[in-house]
Amino acid sequence: MLDKAVILEQLRGVLDPEIGISIVDLNMVRDIGINEDGIVQVKIALTVQHCPMAKTLQADVEKAVGKLDGVKSVNVETTAMSKKELEELRVKLQARATNSQTQSGQNTSTAGPGINKLGKRGIRNIIAIVSGKGGVGKSFVTSMLATELRRQGYEVGVLDADLTGPSIAKVFGLSGKPYKAENGLIVPAKSKTGIKVMSINLVLDDPTMPVIWRGPIVNSVIRQLYWDVDWGDVHYLLVDLPPGTSDSPLTVFQSLPVDGVIVVSSPQDLAAMIVATAVNMAKKMEAPIMGLVENMSYFQWPGCGEKIEIFGQSNGSKLAAQLDIPYLGGVPLDPEIARLSDQGRIEEYSSPVFENIAAELRQKAVRQVEQLTQGLPIAWTVEPQHK
Ligand SMILES: Nc1ncnc2c1ncn2[C@@H]1O[C@H](COP(=O)(O)OP(=O)(O)OP(=O)(O)O)[C@@H](O)[C@H]1O
Ligand SMILES: [Mg+2]
Repeated sequence: MLDKAVILEQLRGVLDPEIGISIVDLNMVRDIGINEDGIVQVKIALTVQHCPMAKTLQADVEKAVGKLDGVKSVNVETTAMSKKELEELRVKLQARATNSQTQSGQNTSTAGPGINKLGKRGIRNIIAIVSGKGGVGKSFVTSMLATELRRQGYEVGVLDADLTGPSIAKVFGLSGKPYKAENGLIVPAKSKTGIKVMSINLVLDDPTMPVIWRGPIVNSVIRQLYWDVDWGDVHYLLVDLPPGTSDSPLTVFQSLPVDGVIVVSSPQDLAAMIVATAVNMAKKMEAPIMGLVENMSYFQWPGCGEKIEIFGQSNGSKLAAQLDIPYLGGVPLDPEIARLSDQGRIEEYSSPVFENIAAELRQKAVRQVEQLTQGLPIAWTVEPQHK
């Protein structure tokens, strides 16, 4: 007998094309109607109205219900979830992610929280730069690492995933608008030394206008900044994140196949707990942590070379030990950094500390990728051009 329960059961097999979870579990099925002639009405609430996948979903629902005995035709009507419903969905997805990770307790390369992980195309290593709190120098560490890796001859890209405070384009002195190539992908901007850069403020008409990013939008914008961009063959894609554990870092860890995470702290991070939240998030999302960089560790007087620990005693190595992650080194406070960043000339800066960190990170990343791809041929064509 054709009734609502039978139809609902059939709809269990229909997955949201973007999230990959049953539309029944996602509470997207809002109404089911059946008339005597076997015409079925199904009302579906979409996460975003007019989402590009709406047609696919509609067709999937029609196909699934149409298979049932006694169904003559299926009409699918769509509506959009309310803000409250979206928030509930987000919480549900997060809980699912946590459950699936604690249950499996092992490394899975498929997306944990039910949000499909995107592929890698020609990108070999994806490294995310995180911190517990703002202003500790994530964007500086990202741009400096990119610069050093580029100096060593690697192909490097930088994705600015900080939608509310993007600063990557500025430190590289970039302002031009990216354009679409024939293949439909966006061509990233290129810095003076050839680092590929993609940031939301290169795309916005007026980068000075504040934009309020809602949860689901953050998700789709970050995925687009990654997937709709023609990164080409790059050895390293560095992803600059906003501080903390908000939607953006969550999306990056859920959607991008991150190979390594660098945690940035400053000596002011007295409360290890603040840094620990960022570290724990990465751990939960099963992203390997490469280590901790302490920024603004000390100040060195130009003439005599005496070191002063302006923000209190450097505690980077202690903090790293506490968090049980490697310590990658401390970067001094240097007014030249702020000056060159402001002028969009960060690529002119160099520091032996960063050279070492970049070299070490490179080694680690290569080892990690080798482990990850053990037994598999590495589809990699670009060799570093050592200068
Ligand atoms: N070691 C340093 N010496 C001097 N100035 C620095 C140093 N590191 C960063 N700065 C400056 O401090 C400011 C904050 O750095 P940055 O933007 O990299 O921090 P952030 O962690 O990315 O901040 P947010 O959380 O806002 O994204 C910038 O003006 C930058 O140029
Ligand atoms: Mg920043």
